[in-house]
Amino acid sequence: MSGSRVIRRMFGSRVIMLSGVLLAVLAHASDAAPSGETLSSPDGRIRLVFSLDEGAPGYSVSRDGREVIRPSRLGYRLRGAPPLEGGFAPAGTSRRSFDEVWRPVWGKASEARNHYNELEVRLRESGPPGRELSIVFRAFDDGVAFRYRVPRQTGLPAVEIADELTEFRFAGDHTTWSIRADYESYEHLYREMPLSELGAANTPVTMLTDDGLFLSVHEAALTDYAGMTLAWLEGDPLGLRCELVPWPDGVKVRGETPLVSPWRTIQIGESPGDLVESFLILNLNEPCALEETSWIRPMKYMGIWWSLHIGKETWHEGPDHGATTENAERYIDFASDHGIPGLLIEGWNTGWDKWGASEAYDYVTPYPDFDLEEVVGYAAEKGVSIIGHHETGGDVVTYERKLEEALDLYARVGVPAVKTGYAGGIYPRGQHHHGQWMVRHYRRVVEEAARRRIMLDVHEPIKPTGVSRTYPNMMTREGVRGMEYNAWSEGNPPEHTTILPFTRMLAGPLDYTPGIFDLTFDEYKPGNRVHTTLVKQLALYVVLESPLQMAADLPENYKGQPPFGFIAKVPVTWDETRVLDAAIGDYAVFARRAGEAWYLGAVTDEGARVIRTPLAFLDSGRSYVLSYYADGADADWEKRPLSFEAGRAIVDQGTWLTLPLAAGGGYAAEIAPATEEEAASLPAYAPPF
Ligand code: NOJ
Ligand code: CA
Repeated sequence: MSGSRVIRRMFGSRVIMLSGVLLAVLAHASDAAPSGETLSSPDGRIRLVFSLDEGAPGYSVSRDGREVIRPSRLGYRLRGAPPLEGGFAPAGTSRRSFDEVWRPVWGKASEARNHYNELEVRLRESGPPGRELSIVFRAFDDGVAFRYRVPRQTGLPAVEIADELTEFRFAGDHTTWSIRADYESYEHLYREMPLSELGAANTPVTMLTDDGLFLSVHEAALTDYAGMTLAWLEGDPLGLRCELVPWPDGVKVRGETPLVSPWRTIQIGESPGDLVESFLILNLNEPCALEETSWIRPMKYMGIWWSLHIGKETWHEGPDHGATTENAERYIDFASDHGIPGLLIEGWNTGWDKWGASEAYDYVTPYPDFDLEEVVGYAAEKGVSIIGHHETGGDVVTYERKLEEALDLYARVGVPAVKTGYAGGIYPRGQHHHGQWMVRHYRRVVEEAARRRIMLDVHEPIKPTGVSRTYPNMMTREGVRGMEYNAWSEGNPPEHTTILPFTRMLAGPLDYTPGIFDLTFDEYKPGNRVHTTLVKQLALYVVLESPLQMAADLPENYKGQPPFGFIAKVPVTWDETRVLDAAIGDYAVFARRAGEAWYLGAVTDEGARVIRTPLAFLDSGRSYVLSYYADGADADWEKRPLSFEAGRAIVDQGTWLTLPLAAGGGYAAEIAPATEEEAASLPAYAPPF
């Protein structure tokens, strides 16, 4: 595909179409010694230096002359073969520059610029067996990335990687935000701590340096390799090293040469928002592999779901079974009447009484009180799409066997999206959710789904690494401690959603499932609750990105509630995203544009605060209608979470909005061009105090 791909290069304001062949002219190769080779970002501010220190490869990174990564080593330890970590001599380099603008099928912006300089360093062992290893570096204006390439070579037809030796030696004891390292789950609360105390973490790991730089360490294009965690680097309190998730026998990655690793990524920005607005992770993935994408439809969805988590209904059959034909049609009626295009149905197929056991589910047999074709047909008449559900309980062996038949069924009856789930220990036992075997599985499901024009929402997934650029039917995924925790645990503290946008969400969209209005659900679970105000639930639709975005509460809790109008209207894919203001762990203010309308969402932690934010992003000389929901003057997530104020007023580019955020609260608004009549009749905006 890449050979014939047309690449758009931008020279100043002129856009010229060049083919991939011409692009090669801009590249050059040499046999020069690579030690001390430097690579600069297009704007020249970031510099990466490759070094060969007595035959051992390494790299360092600086920005504006200030060290970001101190000299850090690279390489592999192999099983059954000597390591690829030293004794190398240079065997040539090649360089190229690349600049394109591509259009995501959905996402945080309608255009993405992929602009970088690349350096590939080829190394050969000076002594026998003379094996080869290449490392490809890319420098962008917003960070750096590198990957290993083990070329096809005699003497190394296959490799078993025992350890990837990649190090990240940071330049200071940065403040970090991360979740603990875990080979099975990302459903954890975030820790804020100095780098020197980090221990081990899943990625992305976000950092703030003393001189005000924001860094995020993650990986891109994880398609056939083990997931990377970061572990403390012995002997260096400011160093982390790559720790890959193992196979049951301890090997980390198995493959044939040529073998390429995912990209190791270090995003660099001057604000938390720079990290959010960056396209670095997606840019490092292959372009869209699908010829036709019109069937990929971002949407909001409701679900026979929250009722299951709060114990109102059950997944399994019985008197309180949730997924009955009748109940599904009740949800469909509500969704249809309120402009919600999708409905997830969990607990429709047999096996839920055996959740977690081997061969519990066959993925095709509905419970007797659920008629799949009838429900899908009824939904279609009402303009609603059904989102199917495949919970594996971790039994991936059976799911692999049944996968094609299970997807065929949904494709045949007309289910355009499937939520998958892996809630349980993986079969075969000893495999981990984040190991190479599962990475291959998740990938296979994406490809099989794409073949049938099915979109995916994966729960208990591998973390996102930008694969949705290549397969945009990979819509959203969990891999986050989401709303469900409020239903059956101590829940998510108010600060959780002020950290997620700058950690987990840097990797990709998240199916957090916002939108709970009955925040205490005392009728079902008096001991549990959601730790936000109602308005903060609205704000999450703007702050948290997901092309399938849930309206998670029960229909009866939305009925007759004006704020539900905001949920029904807010878009799920965007032309532009801007972080207006943020302090990670304290608050965040997002503005996102869809067409001509902007949406503004602000969230705060347990601290009440007033934020003033300018609307400088609006077109000049134009009037807009601000339609807002704000926490009420007496609102407080704990005592009065439902208190809110709503209003409409005229604003323009010069307006400063005052956002009065209650403890655990938020602010949500639409800002859309005003008609002449609106401009004449609505009051000019005046701050509430
Ligand atoms: C855990 C998922 O996160 C949740 O959304 C789902 O309802 C249950 N597993 C059952 O599949
Ligand atoms: Ca889960």
